[in-house]
Amino acid sequence: MEASQEPQHLPNYMKDDNVSQETKKLISSLPSDKDFMGYNLYNYKGCWYYPNTLQAVLDVQDHFRPRENDIILASLPKGGTTWLKSLVFAVLHREKYLENPQTTHPLLSQNPHDLVPFLEIELYASSQTPDLTKFPSPMIFSTHMHLNTLREATKKSSSSPCKVVYVCRGLKDTFVSGWHYKNKLHRTEMDQASFELLFDSYCRGVTLYGPYWEQMLSYWKGSLEDKENVLFMRYEEIVEEPLIQVKRLAGFLNCPFTKEEEEGGSVEKILKLCSLRNLSNLETNKNGTTRIGIDSNVFFRKGEVGDWKNHLTPQMAKRFDDIVEGRLQGSGLTFQ
Ligand code: A3P
Repeated sequence: MEASQEPQHLPNYMKDDNVSQETKKLISSLPSDKDFMGYNLYNYKGCWYYPNTLQAVLDVQDHFRPRENDIILASLPKGGTTWLKSLVFAVLHREKYLENPQTTHPLLSQNPHDLVPFLEIELYASSQTPDLTKFPSPMIFSTHMHLNTLREATKKSSSSPCKVVYVCRGLKDTFVSGWHYKNKLHRTEMDQASFELLFDSYCRGVTLYGPYWEQMLSYWKGSLEDKENVLFMRYEEIVEEPLIQVKRLAGFLNCPFTKEEEEGGSVEKILKLCSLRNLSNLETNKNGTTRIGIDSNVFFRKGEVGDWKNHLTPQMAKRFDDIVEGRLQGSGLTFQ
């Protein structure tokens, strides 16, 4: 450990105790670096991973074959994953749950991460070949993998390419959100030196699934090349124009809202159900634990656009902006 205190809780995806001999050999040949707390990260094909996460990603590539109509939600860590999971679940299952007084909506009793499991952080973290047939089809999965990494698995599938929805967010807000998340996740109060070390790691791109600009670019390019199957969304746009974005999402998923649904306030109901205020106040999300052993409340905080202004100095913000602008140059993808 470098500048921070020993974490009281270390999630499995950060550990190195679930790695095959073959992957250990691979890891020994990879470029390595340390995260801001001193844990080893390894760079495999342009992306940084902890050992257990890399093992799971390799297993996803070798064994995951999506079925017809399965949907994959991809996201920047702290980019709006929880919100996207709840929105997509609510949109897809609206007929079954939204207007049905006989049922309790699953989002009221379960954390969105338990309704939409992570491929590599949950399903392939405990088994090389999890039994996915037990899930109803179509299934919604999620991932933080870059699109090229994900495609290594999906291109081997015999069914037509599944739809991928990606959500990202301005990197300065993502960084600040990540800082608060890590404090809550590790159940510790980290100091200013740790904050600066984490900031430096973000700037160098050395974070789990980083560099984040590479992840964004992979989905940005994918969405331009294959509009039918890759949707690029931004957290800020969902905040700014929620109705438009949820309708866009439903259209992309081939389940557009009918005129009657729109007139009956279906989109508004979904937004209210999935709002940060509603979800974060539910008992399950206040005091529960997700299936992967993470406290449910760590996924909810302020949800404010521009919160970075409360945490970063103007010099830090400029350093970040310069790096991101340089990396995204020429791609057509820009951030405020
Ligand atoms: P802040 O830390 O800025 O508040 P992820 O879901 O990818 O882990 O991202 C977490 C961020 O999304 C946190 O941002 C969290 O508060 C916000 N968030 C979680 N659920 C949300 C929701 N239903 N609506 C809007 N924002 C949400």
